[in-house]
Amino acid sequence: MENKKVILVCGGAGFIGSNFIHYILEKYPDYKVVNYDKLTYAGNLNNHKKIENNPNYKFVQGDIVDLEKLNEVIKENKITHIINFAAETHVDRSIHGGAKEFVLSNTLGVQMILDAVRFNEIEKFINVSTDEVYGALELDDENIFTEETPITPNMPYAAAKAGGDLMCNAYFKTHNVPVIVTHCSNNYGPYQFPEKLIPFFIFKILKGEKLPVYGDGLNIRDWIHVRDHVKALDLLLHKGKNGEIYNIGSDNERSNIELTKYILDYFDKSEDMIEYVKDRPGHDRRYAIDATKIKKLGWQPDYPKEKFKQGLKETIEWYLDNKDWVEDLWKKKDEMNKFQEDFFTKKQ
Ligand SMILES: NC(=O)c1ccc[n+]([C@@H]2O[C@H](COP(=O)([O-])OP(=O)(O)OC[C@H]3O[C@@H](n4cnc5c(N)ncnc54)[C@H](O)[C@@H]3O)[C@@H](O)[C@H]2O)c1
Repeated sequence: MENKKVILVCGGAGFIGSNFIHYILEKYPDYKVVNYDKLTYAGNLNNHKKIENNPNYKFVQGDIVDLEKLNEVIKENKITHIINFAAETHVDRSIHGGAKEFVLSNTLGVQMILDAVRFNEIEKFINVSTDEVYGALELDDENIFTEETPITPNMPYAAAKAGGDLMCNAYFKTHNVPVIVTHCSNNYGPYQFPEKLIPFFIFKILKGEKLPVYGDGLNIRDWIHVRDHVKALDLLLHKGKNGEIYNIGSDNERSNIELTKYILDYFDKSEDMIEYVKDRPGHDRRYAIDATKIKKLGWQPDYPKEKFKQGLKETIEWYLDNKDWVEDLWKKKDEMNKFQEDFFTKKQ
């Protein structure tokens, strides 16, 4: 039987953190989870309505930059493991809205957690990061991102994430802090804040509005179901080797236009609903992840490339079936509008 674990989940009120908490509480009835989240515009406690009375779950509002509070929460709850999802995550905001918050949470915040790990009895810390730190591939590049690919981020979001990842490496080498860094590709699934492409397009269709596609629509992302991502993180929590980087991806490259057409197809809408808009500055052409290393450790996606359409259909249906969740979130639409409506729907 597994030793009991008390996991501090930083950023557990966001998209992936919420899915991770649900997965862990379901799979390990003797584990405890403390969700530590600042509740930025992207944090949503409605994600946890079904578990808020679970005795193994607790929420604490806090900022990862606040080391004193982190130390207090770790000691009070006898935390054994930490996983960090807390970050500013919206690329467009990092470009058009300023990068300061990104550096604070994504770089400085990670360094604060590393200090907390260093001076407390923490068995393992996983810093959840992104394939965007590797920069961009060309459409015809044969070599895709491995763990050895140099870190060459092109956007403020990715650069701030890379700063956190490099700190993890430095703390492992210098202080032997038990840390793992993961680089995952684009996630889809339930509970994603609707400024991100898939839920954003679903809501646009429901409102009868056109779907703004950047540039020529041929940029490629490597899509993974969020459930497969959290399964990989669960494996690393138990079997990952300290000081290592692990790529996570399910070999599912899709161009933005292909993805957009799948969503339109589901709603039986025509391609006339697509509106090509001015490209995002510094828009990376292609991401593609080589996940051989984590597969060797025993992970396989439940939604590989051939099941993408099914995963997407289930995701769309989740948003349609959870109108309350959507409507509560829709109250925050002004914050979305600042960044989304301005940049997507105004004539460029
Ligand atoms: N979404 C993706 O496709 C994807 C892909 C690869 C990696 N990632 C990484 O996974 C992590 C989670 O992404 P997500 O999509 O769930 O993000 P999200 O934006 O949905 O959630 C982020 C959460 O972090 C919280 N937060 C932000 N700053 C904080 C701070 N300083 N202190 C405490 N909490 C804070 C927010 O309130 C929110 O609940 C991020 O680190 C992101 O870089 C995301």
